[in-house]
Amino acid sequence: MPDDAAGDTPGGAGNERRFSPQEAALLHDVLRWRRDVRHFRPDPVAPEVLNRLQAAVDLAPSVGNSRPWHFLRLRDPALRARIAAIFEAENTRAADGYDGDTRADYLALKLAGLREAPEHLAVFTDTDPAEGRGLGRQTMPEMLTYSTVTAIHTLWLAARVENLGLGWVSILDPAAVAGALDAPPHWRFTAYLCLGYPRFSDDTPLLHRTGWQQNTRASWSEV
Ligand SMILES: Cc1cc2nc3c(=O)[nH]c(=O)nc-3n(C[C@H](O)[C@H](O)[C@H](O)COP(=O)(O)O)c2cc1C
Repeated sequence: MPDDAAGDTPGGAGNERRFSPQEAALLHDVLRWRRDVRHFRPDPVAPEVLNRLQAAVDLAPSVGNSRPWHFLRLRDPALRARIAAIFEAENTRAADGYDGDTRADYLALKLAGLREAPEHLAVFTDTDPAEGRGLGRQTMPEMLTYSTVTAIHTLWLAARVENLGLGWVSILDPAAVAGALDAPPHWRFTAYLCLGYPRFSDDTPLLHRTGWQQNTRASWSEV
């Protein structure tokens, strides 16, 4: 048994995997080229690729290892059309929150690839998951949703290295989506994802390229 397995961490050694600087640089590249994708080619995603993505999702961290996420893959065009209609209504409502030129700028943005994306995933968070035994979420129940978000980001990166793109659609009425998909009452709608091969790749957010906004604030500080 290696020395560091003899301490008070059971099973704590024996599977060491170290990453090289080249691998670290590769991950950085994946992060930089991830991007939110709204322009898709219609090409289908092969079942074995989808299987690999499913396996990746289940590598994500979660509070108390509860894995509270449920990914619903929408196959039914009628269901997809209902979600698209909910998006259109909410997007118009959101545009109406802006005036004049800003409203026109908003309407010029493409904020979803719902018509083109070959794969649609509705993601829910189980607010009373069978796994995890309640660990870590007594004081902050929102940790369950945060856990689902880690799974989504894991999927985002796993999709990118399959040369797929993923777009997060949140301009939706959560109750309407849950109703359209007949979700159980203890499932909280968390995200709607479009997945497919992107029409182009980019290392810069599209919202920057379109001139809608820029990021200037430093996100780390010291106290
Ligand atoms: C929680 C969340 C919700 C989002 N909702 C939408 C959305 O409804 N429509 C959209 O076009 N992009 C959406 N995005 C993508 C963001 O606009 C995008 O991440 C941001 O502009 C930065 O660009 P990047 O992801 O390409 O780096 C969402 C992203 C997150 C994390």
